[in-house]
Amino acid sequence: MKNKIIFATGNANKMREIREILGEEYFEIKSMKEAGIDCDIVEDGKTFEENSLIKAKAVAQFAKDAIVLADDSGLEVDALNKEPGVYSARYMGEDTSYDIKNANIIERLEGVAKEDRSARFVCAISAVFPDGHETCVRGEIEGYIGYEPMGENGFGYDPIFYLWDKDVSTASISPEEKNAISHRGKALRMIKEEIFKHENIGC
Ligand code: IMP
Repeated sequence: MKNKIIFATGNANKMREIREILGEEYFEIKSMKEAGIDCDIVEDGKTFEENSLIKAKAVAQFAKDAIVLADDSGLEVDALNKEPGVYSARYMGEDTSYDIKNANIIERLEGVAKEDRSARFVCAISAVFPDGHETCVRGEIEGYIGYEPMGENGFGYDPIFYLWDKDVSTASISPEEKNAISHRGKALRMIKEEIFKHENIGC
């Protein structure tokens, strides 16, 4: 019988990515909505790891025999003391457009040289298993904040997040290219390994 997984997200893109990376050979993967779970979660952790575990534990209360996964991600800019960090979605207000948020970050870095504009996307994913076992992984991708937005793909801070080796933003590369190197792609592949280990799959 397939292991059941519930991913604590309502985001269709994330569901597609998790299905692609975990594969449906071993797993029956559902979103919270597909699993009929609806709960308010207060993400008041200080780190990406804490927030992802808060979400996974909250959903696990309703998940019976399923493994629950939850992620938390964001952008850290070194010259801004790692802001916006866990407040990435809430930076300048949840409803403020990313055009405005991105312009603001570039403005705050005025006069900062390229080598000091380092930044990273971080993604923590927690898993809570039906036996109560908990684990958390972190994926990162390093880059820098460009001098102007570039590209139409992606979402959020992608237009201002540039790759060191390509000098283009992650909004300028294809979704496939981004998934292969992204913080979320890395974290999903790591959590897959943790799940295989815990469930003795492939032994
Ligand atoms: P979430 O935890 O995945 O909902 O992400 C929180 C916020 O981090 C998003 O609303 C974006 O602002 C930012 N973020 C996370 N991952 C990415 C990414 O791959 N590209 C651009 N922005 C991202």
